[in-house]
Amino acid sequence: MAVLIAIEGIDGSGKGTQSALLVDHLHQQGHSVELLSFPRYEHTRFGAAIGEFLNGKFGQLDEVHPQLASLLFAGDRFESKDVILEAAESHDMVVFDRYVASNIAHQAAKLDEPQRLDLMQWIERIEHDVYGLPRPDLTILLDLPATAAQRLIAEKSARSYTDKAADLQEADSEYLERVRQVYRTLAASNGQWQVVDCLDGDDIRRIEDVAKELHSCVTKRLSMTERPE
Ligand code: TMP
Ligand code: MG
Repeated sequence: MAVLIAIEGIDGSGKGTQSALLVDHLHQQGHSVELLSFPRYEHTRFGAAIGEFLNGKFGQLDEVHPQLASLLFAGDRFESKDVILEAAESHDMVVFDRYVASNIAHQAAKLDEPQRLDLMQWIERIEHDVYGLPRPDLTILLDLPATAAQRLIAEKSARSYTDKAADLQEADSEYLERVRQVYRTLAASNGQWQVVDCLDGDDIRRIEDVAKELHSCVTKRLSMTERPE
């Protein structure tokens, strides 16, 4: 079974860029690695519905209860379960550009306590226990404040599921900051998480510098697996 690595963070934190660089780097070192990005908008029925949700087809952000919204994303992973398990069986490593924690952070952030914690636990159980999706061995949070992330969202190239520059969730800075706080709570309470700070003072760190730190988090985790019992 491969080592499963999830890259997490709010929209605009650089997950896509960093996941691709990480996979290139690991390939160069001779590892067999597969990259899977969620949502899989173009590959699953649930993914297509997620595109519609993010374009506002089912209402504005606060009009769709997050518990129901979370089921679209969980469904996308359930529909991809064979792809996930196949990747895990045939490679040393699988890198997820967003995974279950994206659902926990982005949907639970729409609620206040105590409902927030309830939803965080509910999503965890649905995805891992009911749907039987494997738990990651390492989750890396690319941590960036929402205001800085939105500068990067504005620079994104066109996406397949939306003709808008920023989708419903990306356009709301206050919401993205709440998501960031849920991510930080998850990272602080779970030993398999690592946090990579993407700011240096007020400046967004150089892509190469973040990539180096990310790679060293992964190398450290791999050395734990390789160590003899
Ligand atoms: P993307 O921007 O990475 O394409 O993801 C689309 C949005 O969906 C983003 O705001 C994060 C959110 N999301 C969830 O709420 N749950 C999930 O499981 C995933 C993968 C994404
Ligand atoms: Mg996005």
